[in-house]
Amino acid sequence: MDRKPYRLGIISALQEEQAGLITQMRDGKIFTRGKRDYVHGNLWGIDCICVLSRLGKVASAATAAMLIERFDVSHLLFTGVAGSADPEVRVGDIVIASELVQHDMDTRPLFPRFEIPLTGLSRFPSDAQINRYLLEAATNFLDQDLLTEISEENRANFNLHQPRLHQGLIASGDEFIASASRLQELKRDFPDLLAVEMEGAAVAQVCHEFGIPFSVIRTISDNANEDSAVDFLSFIRHVASVYAFHTIRRLSALLP
Ligand code: ADE
Repeated sequence: MDRKPYRLGIISALQEEQAGLITQMRDGKIFTRGKRDYVHGNLWGIDCICVLSRLGKVASAATAAMLIERFDVSHLLFTGVAGSADPEVRVGDIVIASELVQHDMDTRPLFPRFEIPLTGLSRFPSDAQINRYLLEAATNFLDQDLLTEISEENRANFNLHQPRLHQGLIASGDEFIASASRLQELKRDFPDLLAVEMEGAAVAQVCHEFGIPFSVIRTISDNANEDSAVDFLSFIRHVASVYAFHTIRRLSALLP
């Protein structure tokens, strides 16, 4: 049944961000390692391993390393939610990372701020080829599935009017951003920042070190301000899993 030359690892932090994918898998087998369930099976014709990393950089880096070393994935995708870091990026929009930075890395005076020590890098680029497929998959989802898959009530509740797709910088750190002033500081450091989350740049570092093509796709759940925790919880319950499910379904149809 594995018709495609990929073994794709799919990581999300929380159950709600990946809900539905595992039930859709054929011949799924669960391997428990390091307190995480790695579910290996065939997802819409793709050899896939789905896993929940839990939140934060250590959790997601450990999960990514495991997927690469123990499960031999050829490609890695992180899917989940993020806070908006730009007025043009609204709740319900999708951001595909073109680059990722760890906003809490600071080893000055040993190395420049934000640089990952001994790599010479502060921004990790994601894989351009995966991004092209993701862009098309997410466009297809927004154009063709959104209205049928998310109820009118939820679209109204979350103000999901013509959500848009963005590509650009995502910043990760072990910090849930829940204040406008903290977000402003981050914007001062990274004027081109589109979204904030807690895992993507850690996965990016691991994939860079192992030479594994990867990308990160995030649905915007909140505005990284004082309301972010309230918006975040209810958004992931009602909306985020639908985005992830159908975008990955669309992606699987595009992969050669
Ligand atoms: N993930 C979703 N929203 C977030 C926020 N405001 N800060 C960090 N990670 C997030």
